[in-house]
Amino acid sequence: MKVLVTGGTGYIGSHTIVELLDNNYDVVCIDNFINSKPEVLDKIKEITGKEITFYEGDVCDKQILRQIFTDNNIDAVIHFAGLKAVGESVRVPLKYYRNNIDSTLSLLEVMGEYNCKKLVFSSSATVYGKPKSLPIKEDFPLSTTNPYGATKLMIENILRDIYVSDKDWSIAVLRYFNPIGAHSSGLIGENPNDIPNNLMPYIIKVATGEYQKLNIFGNDYDTVDGTGVRDYIHVVDLALGHLKALEKIDKDNGIDFYNLGTGHGFSVLELVNTFSKVNKVDVPYEICDRRPGDIDACYADPSYAKEKLNWQAEKNIEDMCRDSYNFVNRK
Ligand code: NAD
Ligand code: UFG
Repeated sequence: MKVLVTGGTGYIGSHTIVELLDNNYDVVCIDNFINSKPEVLDKIKEITGKEITFYEGDVCDKQILRQIFTDNNIDAVIHFAGLKAVGESVRVPLKYYRNNIDSTLSLLEVMGEYNCKKLVFSSSATVYGKPKSLPIKEDFPLSTTNPYGATKLMIENILRDIYVSDKDWSIAVLRYFNPIGAHSSGLIGENPNDIPNNLMPYIIKVATGEYQKLNIFGNDYDTVDGTGVRDYIHVVDLALGHLKALEKIDKDNGIDFYNLGTGHGFSVLELVNTFSKVNKVDVPYEICDRRPGDIDACYADPSYAKEKLNWQAEKNIEDMCRDSYNFVNRK
């Protein structure tokens, strides 16, 4: 099976490509390096010993997409390409609407032109807004609190409409919880250039001494120790979920939505303490004000993905902390 991976040199895309190659899929990738680096391609080759076909370009550009579909017999697409910084999306919303929506529309139109109607899409637990109860199930009400989240929900709705209009489509929408960790080789991982927004990249910058301390955003939430609780999932488990989703859309038409999480919530302090213990490194922190828009707790009920995709997360929080740090120490 030949799979087009958009945004494949990014954090989750690169790990997914490694698993695809290890499982003998042919991979074609497009990325414009807006949030990743070309060296990731060499690392993928070093890990797998295999080549992929790569196009540098923008998924909004239908000409390059047509070129890709003309050059390659694409059977299915995994669409990771998108911008993902929540705070930036509030400051410059049009950049997010333009990039995330336009790229998806261009991709869907060109897929239709080439009669390629199998798609796995990267959505997010952000589409649940502030959940009414926990754990979160796929049929919970959907809402968003920022432009980034709005693009994910809009795209989910576009995909529903596509399927209503044409039952030949086969679409898996994967709602990721909080991916952390890195490939066990330490060759690929998450390495934001800018000041990180997310917890684990920030912990790493503190552990390596680049930053003096971690700011913990609030300790008065209604959680085990007052700090925010999230469902952290190892990026390799997440990547494997995409392979299961591909198998499913290859077999059955339709559109379906799956939570990819572990089902377990960890607080900020629990994550920080585990990271320190596993890696034998100090992570100094200070309790600060809450971050606007944050919720107390968020974790998945992942049983639907287990039932329908035969997928469940295998790695634990210690694995996630060890592999995240191993990636920065090896570089
Ligand atoms: P990432 O930024 O590391 O990867 C995205 C990749 O897409 C980057 O390599 C970037 O250069 C590329 N890209 C962006 N816009 C493009 C365009 N128009 N044309 C070509 N390439 C483009 O992000 P990630 O963490 O790997 O996330 C992948 C997907 O998963 C995104 O859609 C993101 O919104 C979604 N997601 C991520 C998280 C998370 O916490 N990491 C959580 C939920 C959902
Ligand atoms: N946190 C801190 N200090 C930091 C960063 C984060 O205390 O420097 C706390 C947050 O308050 C929260 C927890 O750590 O309680 C996790 O925060 P992240 O920013 O890592 O993750 P979020 O759950 O807030 O958001 C992430 C992505 C969103 C996505 C969401 C659900 O950034 O895009 O997960 O998938 F929508």
